[in-house]
Amino acid sequence: MPQFYQRHLLRLLDFSPNEIAELLALSAKLKKDKKSGAERPLLSGKNIALIFEKDSTRTRCAFEVAAFDQGARVTYLGPSGSQIGHKESIKDSARVLGRMYDGIQYRGFGQKIVETLAEFSGVPVWNGLTDEFHPTQILADLLTMQEHSPQKSLSQIKFAYVGDARNNMGNSLLEGAALMGMDIRLVAPKACWPQESLVESCQAIAKKTGARITLTENVAQGVEGVDYLYTDVWVSMGEPKEVWKERIALLKPYQVNQAMIVLTHNPQVKFLHCLPAFHDDKTVMGKQMAEQYGLHGGMEVTDEVFESVHSVVFDQAENRMHTIKAVMVATLVHAY
Ligand code: CP
Ligand code: NVA
Repeated sequence: MPQFYQRHLLRLLDFSPNEIAELLALSAKLKKDKKSGAERPLLSGKNIALIFEKDSTRTRCAFEVAAFDQGARVTYLGPSGSQIGHKESIKDSARVLGRMYDGIQYRGFGQKIVETLAEFSGVPVWNGLTDEFHPTQILADLLTMQEHSPQKSLSQIKFAYVGDARNNMGNSLLEGAALMGMDIRLVAPKACWPQESLVESCQAIAKKTGARITLTENVAQGVEGVDYLYTDVWVSMGEPKEVWKERIALLKPYQVNQAMIVLTHNPQVKFLHCLPAFHDDKTVMGKQMAEQYGLHGGMEVTDEVFESVHSVVFDQAENRMHTIKAVMVATLVHAY
């Protein structure tokens, strides 16, 4: 049985395929226990620090609800209001928080920051999104795919991630798919492909796991026959607003829309998105974007697809909580 006690979750490549499978099995069990009223508070007496240098709805709420369900207490440290990163170095903050808390979640900028936190805190650190990686999101995505493809193992699933494949989601999905032996197609203009060194590492893993990794600019080829279409926002948190114009011009042909659904040749194809999504012009930012760039009815995904029977994005969002709960339980409880 894999050992997770006191380990960090900084990126998926820190874990073996067996370990990821075990985390998914624990997530499914905890989900079932919660729904049947059989959940036991395995984290009772634990204190969790939640550091957010960027905004969040799902990740913050998932960590809080998961901790509360399991009997733990949380402290939310937002982008302002603490000394972290302004008046005190991450190394010092790590050593302070490690004396008070049993585990620390970090969402922010460079991966190096979460690595420093892990190096000096002495307690498990979980990456809740950095510029480079978003590992807890991928656990939720894999669980969602397992649930929606009950007749297949993960290694039999084909999916296309379309759009900005150089961001934290593209990188992390590539790692997850390589580890779990999946057929992943990164469908994006070359300028938005992940760094070559990451692709090479994942290709080396794929040789052992049987994963198939395709990077292509060709939408029709990339999405042919897939079980899932996945996309993410075209400009991520922390990137300058100025890149929007150029990114839209680059990624417009990669919008997930009804025509792309048809190109999959799979009437049962499912749509995934980590959220939040620009799928209409009803939000403040969506409205601004639509007016400024003339993309009404959606940006990276059309409202039509987002609201269609293909879309399983809210199952995916719910699974953030069950998978994050599993990560906390596995790393904080010796025998769970
Ligand atoms: N998917 C995700 O991480 O959402 P939040 O930014 O709301 O946490
Ligand atoms: N790539 C997105 C993911 C949001 C969950 C971002 O970093 O903003």
